[in-house]
Amino acid sequence: MLEVRNVSAAYGRIEAVRDVSLAVNQGEIVVMVGRNGAGKTTTLKTICGLLRPAQGHIFYEGKDITGLPSYEIARLGLNLIPEGRQIFADQTVWDNLNLGLNSRRLKGAEIQRKLDYCFNLFPRLKQRTKQLAGTLSGGEQQMLAVSRALMQGPRLLVLDEPSLGLAPIIVTEIMQAIWELRAAENITILLVEQMRYALQIADRAYVLKTGQVVWEGSGADALNSVEVEEAYLGKRKVINDPLSSN
Ligand SMILES: Nc1ncnc2c1ncn2[C@@H]1O[C@H](COP(=O)(O)OP(=O)(O)OP(=O)(O)O)[C@@H](O)[C@H]1O
Ligand SMILES: [Mg+2]
Repeated sequence: MLEVRNVSAAYGRIEAVRDVSLAVNQGEIVVMVGRNGAGKTTTLKTICGLLRPAQGHIFYEGKDITGLPSYEIARLGLNLIPEGRQIFADQTVWDNLNLGLNSRRLKGAEIQRKLDYCFNLFPRLKQRTKQLAGTLSGGEQQMLAVSRALMQGPRLLVLDEPSLGLAPIIVTEIMQAIWELRAAENITILLVEQMRYALQIADRAYVLKTGQVVWEGSGADALNSVEVEEAYLGKRKVINDPLSSN
C-alpha cells in the first residue's frame, strides 16, 4: 500500500534521514521506533508531503506521490495525526470534528455514521462535544485528534507518537482503539512510537537510528529483541536488585 524507496530528507544542509526504505502492506499495523532525533517525524512528514525528499520516491496505492502537496495526499486517504496532536484549542470538540470534514465532501448519513463510530470508540468525547478542545485532558485530546483524522476517511492512517505525555492506562486505551480501527474499519496503520506498548499491536516494526533504518522484523521479534529494547527503547529494568528480597 505504501512504499518508501531510498528516501533522504534534509532541513537546509542538515540531513535528517538517509536512504530510508520501508513498506506498509494493506491491512497491516507497522510501527517505527527510535530515539529522539532519529528521524521518525521527518520520515512521516516526507511521506505525507509536508517535506519534499531530497532523494528517493514514495508510492501509495501504486501511485508515485513524491512531491505532491500534503492536501492532495490527504485527499487520497493518507492522513497524518501529527506530533503534538495540533487540535484547535479554542474551538469545541464538535467544531474540531467538523473541521476534519472540510477536506472531503461527505453526505449527511455518512457523516453521522462516522461521528457515531468515533463516539463509540471514545465514549468520553460524546459527553464533551461542547467543551473547548484546549480544556480536554491530554488523553482526551489524543482521542479527538484520532477522531478528527477518522472523519477524513483515511485508508492509511499515520500517527506520530500519539502516546506522548500520556499515562500508561490512557496509552493502552489509545493502542486498543488503533487495533480496533484496523479490524473494524479496515484502516491500515503506520505508527511512530518510542514505547513498548506499540510493539504489542505491531505486525511489523522498523527501528530508525540517526536517520537510517537499522533493524526490521516482525512485531513479535521486536518485542523479544534485546537489541531493539536496549538500544532504542531504553534500558531493561535491573532484575537483580540487591535491595529487593529475592
Ligand atoms: N525544522 C527543522 N529544522 C532543522 N532541523 C530539524 C528540523 N526538524 C527536525 N530537525 C532535525 O532532524 C533530525 C530528526 O528529527 P525528527 O524530528 O525527525 O526526529 P524524531 O525521531 O521524530 O525525534 P523525537 O522522538 O524527538 O520526536 C534531528 O536531528 C532534528 O534536530
Ligand atoms: Mg518526532
